[in-house]
Amino acid sequence: MNIDKIRSAFAKHFDGATGAVYASPGRINLIGEHTDYNGGFVFPGAIDKAMAAEIKPNGTNTIHAYALDLEADNYAAFGLEEADVPKQQWARYIFGVCREIIKRGGEIGGFDTVFSGDVPLGAGMSSSAALESTFAFALNDIFSLGIDKFELAKIGQATEHNYCGVKCGIMDQFASIFGKAGSLILLDCRSLEYKYFPFNPEGYKLVLLNTAVKHELADGEYNKRRASCERAAAAIRVNHPEVEFLRDATAEMLEEVKAGIGEEDYLRAKYVIEEVQRVMDVCQALEKGDYETVGERMYGTHHGMSKLYEVSCEELDFLNDVARKCGVTGSRVMGGGFGGCTINLVKEEKYNDFIEEAFTAFKSKFGREPLLYDVVISDGARKLD
Ligand code: GLA
Repeated sequence: MNIDKIRSAFAKHFDGATGAVYASPGRINLIGEHTDYNGGFVFPGAIDKAMAAEIKPNGTNTIHAYALDLEADNYAAFGLEEADVPKQQWARYIFGVCREIIKRGGEIGGFDTVFSGDVPLGAGMSSSAALESTFAFALNDIFSLGIDKFELAKIGQATEHNYCGVKCGIMDQFASIFGKAGSLILLDCRSLEYKYFPFNPEGYKLVLLNTAVKHELADGEYNKRRASCERAAAAIRVNHPEVEFLRDATAEMLEEVKAGIGEEDYLRAKYVIEEVQRVMDVCQALEKGDYETVGERMYGTHHGMSKLYEVSCEELDFLNDVARKCGVTGSRVMGGGFGGCTINLVKEEKYNDFIEEAFTAFKSKFGREPLLYDVVISDGARKLD
């Protein structure tokens, strides 16, 4: 991430002024996909790719923002009232964070800002959560609001819900705010209880392969999955009032309502119930250092996301098959799906052959190479010196 670039752009656009610089990272997720909004468990970690912003209050009620990585339409000015919603999608992330802070009683004023980042967009690594978390964390600090970290994550999530059209769970914003170098976070998305899990699998590497198929969660498919899950949970609840979320349901309970819910809702719910169990299996396996089981469950997630939840795509399935053939321990689509990355747990001695084969095979099939990122598990939202 190029902080100097941000600093010089800020000085250029705002008469040589200097603000404070904050950053918040993207995330990986070892396992537990589409479980967060079903009240289940997730296993994310923050990464060494982040969004960063320089920010300075300007004494007005207007925000002046520059998105440094965009070539066109990269400047927005907007107020803090509900009616001031900017037309640029990227600016809505900042506007939404401001509005959600104000709704919670936070007193903020206008500010000048320039931001940039190296979290690939639409790759399933939560660039939007990184942006929301950067501003939520920064404004809390700059305006001395005293909002706790849980609420900062919820502010980012509510921004997605109310200003960006995605009814996401809490995983991405939580990981971006709470990330800790070297540790994954086992998070219970219902209670928000969490535990850091030092993750340094000796003899293995974690690597992401980006298909560069841009995923777009806002086109409605993500929200449709969520609605399916909620309908299935409601059907089960009729006879099992203790089932608040699908996280509480069993495979048997789902079978009881199979005839009464549509085929699609059934498949979605089946995936979620199985995925909740896979996260538990992975936790136990990690405690024993049993990476073979961790890897098998990752393949299980891929299969479920592809065949039951139907959020994979040809390129992701292809990379998953290549991983299997190369003896990669675990591999699966990561994040919301519909494109983006696979996450791969691979033995060090198999790493080079796998990467070579993945690049060659992908190129001969799709005419271009995937992008590769080695994963470094890093700290969450912070102020930079
Ligand atoms: C997106 C959402 C998250 C989560 C994942 C899938 O990243 O923002 O809340 O639902 O998809 O696990």
